[in-house]
Amino acid sequence: MSARRIAADQPASFEMTPETQAKLDRIIARYPQGKQASAVISALWLAQKQNDYWLPRAAIERVAETLGMPYIRVMEVATFYTMFNLEPVGKYFIQMCGTTPCLLAGSDGIKAYLEQRVGPQRKVTADGNFSWLEVECLGACCNAPMVQINDDYYEDLTVENFGKLLDDLAAGRPVRVGSQTGRMTSEPDGGLTTLTTFYGADGKSGPQSLKK
Ligand code: FES
Repeated sequence: MSARRIAADQPASFEMTPETQAKLDRIIARYPQGKQASAVISALWLAQKQNDYWLPRAAIERVAETLGMPYIRVMEVATFYTMFNLEPVGKYFIQMCGTTPCLLAGSDGIKAYLEQRVGPQRKVTADGNFSWLEVECLGACCNAPMVQINDDYYEDLTVENFGKLLDDLAAGRPVRVGSQTGRMTSEPDGGLTTLTTFYGADGKSGPQSLKK
């Protein structure tokens, strides 16, 4: 589990852009009058996305002011949920799952590769491209080992395909989200072994193979 501390270096101010404010206004409008504090997680999330995926103290204060909440209440939320980053992260922020299914499938190799290529956890690379953090299960155990990079999951990792993924991201080349071995979502590795036939929509046209 990670320690949750706000960054030592803080920007002097934070203002929401008109686009962020408009999104937040639409979310706040979903709640009854006087219950706008219910939008606190959404507000922090929008502020974080605007600020390169991390929340400075000024953004937390701005959210508190917008929602009419005591600053400490918003700080409690921001420091409790690990989805909020309290210090700067790389342009590509890698959350590496190290929980048991991913560990059994080789996440220790991914972790060693990250330590060697990106450096210690939480440290942003000199070019600003990467930082990483080991996290608990991200709910994609069927496709272990996996990482989350910004908003997307990358699964079925090996040291080789993960290295290529980071090369492609750093070079600005398009990358494939999801399985890095080409399987569809979490279907069996090696292709379907059951439910390989289906009947036509009229229920009479007989079994048809789903296998290519
Ligand atoms: S254990 Fe890694 S996604 Fe669940």
